[in-house]
Amino acid sequence: MVFLHKIFQMKVTKIACIGAGYVGGPTMAVIAQKNPGIQVTVVDLNEQRIANWNHEDLSKLPIYEPGLAEVVAEARGRNLFFSTDINKAIVEAELIFISVNTPTKTYGKGKGMAADLKYIELCARQIAETATTNKIVVEKSTLPVRTAEAIKNILENNSNNLQFQILSNPEFLAEGTAVADLQNPDRVLIGGETTPEGQEAIEALVQIYNSWIPRERILTTNLWSSELSKLTANAFLAQRVSSINAMSELCEVTGANVQEVASAIGMDSRIGNKFLKASVGFGGSCFQKDILNLVYIAKSYGLNEVADYWEQVIILNDHQKKRFAENIIKTLYNTVSGKKITVLGWAFKKDTNDTRESAAIYVTSALMEENASIHVFDPKVEKHQIIGDLEYLNVHTSEEINQFLSIENDPYTACKNAHAIAILTEWDEFKTYDWQKIYDNMMKPAFIFDGRDILDVNKMREIGFVVYSIGKSV
Ligand code: NAD
Ligand code: UGA
Repeated sequence: MVFLHKIFQMKVTKIACIGAGYVGGPTMAVIAQKNPGIQVTVVDLNEQRIANWNHEDLSKLPIYEPGLAEVVAEARGRNLFFSTDINKAIVEAELIFISVNTPTKTYGKGKGMAADLKYIELCARQIAETATTNKIVVEKSTLPVRTAEAIKNILENNSNNLQFQILSNPEFLAEGTAVADLQNPDRVLIGGETTPEGQEAIEALVQIYNSWIPRERILTTNLWSSELSKLTANAFLAQRVSSINAMSELCEVTGANVQEVASAIGMDSRIGNKFLKASVGFGGSCFQKDILNLVYIAKSYGLNEVADYWEQVIILNDHQKKRFAENIIKTLYNTVSGKKITVLGWAFKKDTNDTRESAAIYVTSALMEENASIHVFDPKVEKHQIIGDLEYLNVHTSEEINQFLSIENDPYTACKNAHAIAILTEWDEFKTYDWQKIYDNMMKPAFIFDGRDILDVNKMREIGFVVYSIGKSV
């Protein structure tokens, strides 16, 4: 016990983070920026990703996030390092974050619902096999409630009498605002064991965050509350989007305006005005995955009503994407075959190059099934990624993708001679385009389907566009 106390009371001087993705990279960059006295090493199996994190040209970092390049420039080489030498980082660190991906399972029991924990387990086994000293292991990835138990089991049964403290420290950053969210979070959540050693491990992590976050915003709980709070937060956030999206359909048929409804309800302080933006549907790597995981967990405890309640958030989101595509087809006289349709925006939201589960993928796929000729322009997403997203969907052959999809580098070329434009990401620059020029070069009638409600409908109608905007009647 005394031995344990000493180890976990120790001030952390070296941190390792396994997983240099959208969470591991930015989170560790900010931790290093704010703790110049701690050495932070981010490791990953993916050599290309690490090479990009180490790229001299900061525009080549693997992740686009406003403000990230500046943080990396400040800390990299000083106390922030990116490496593929996972074992070395494990041996050196007193505290190890696990920040690997936890996607929805695509095989076996729980397929399509449960989180796939194989990458987490691999990390736990590698830590157990490599470590030569006691460690604090921190779950940064989003995990099903009670995963810490499994990690502890693996670690303690596969190492040589070493002691491990497992903490849950879920990440709440949103992409596109990751750096701001990390520098000024609403709260940091740390869950740990209620034993003295658990509390000491919690305190070691609190110290790291406390170097820039006030103590009252660092919340400490038991492990299971922390793990479950992360899934709950994402479920509540996604639920708000599905709730306003459900209302958007009702607005369209009744003459109500969803933006006005959102403002009216958002002024009620009990409801609040955030996350009430109707859209073509939420995307991103986490909302769907985490809710499916929650549904699976509820079902596995026999809580079918709870499971059904949350599943409806996903059902509504799928419906929103589907009805947006169907509306385009219906409006274009029930046929889009051979028609040029321009997709503006491929990322799942603005200010990120992440496209995972983006609504654009599903809307485009539905239009390609009707043989439309799709031309995509996104300011930050590269061609290979767009093609990769459609290949991953496994609905279209490579020949079909070649035939029906073109990726454009310029928005005006993308819109030239188009029958319709679909706005699928809310990039700010779309608002500033010369819409008169775009209109002049389109087929007539010139249709625009604004899946993000970013354009001024009256102005667009004055130019001559036929405008369909989510949550507004035509
Ligand atoms: P990501 O796919 O961008 O990054 C994960 C990285 O882990 C990849 O680069 C992969 O190569 C690496 N990896 C996987 N197994 C490994 C192993 N055994 N050893 C070394 N490296 C390994 O994923 P992400 O978006 O950063 O998400 C990571 C976790 O954080 C997920 O659980 C996710 O739910 C959660 N999360 C994500 C966000 C977000 O905005 N993306 C926000 C909060 C929480
Ligand atoms: C979300 C949460 O906001 C983060 O707190 C969480 O850490 C993260 O998931 C995660 O666990 O991965 P993120 O998916 O990056 O962050 O971005 P959000 O801003 O939440 O947007 C998600 C999707 O919902 C986007 O497609 C966005 O366009 C859509 N959305 C969001 C709306 O359609 N309307 C809104 O009002 C808000």
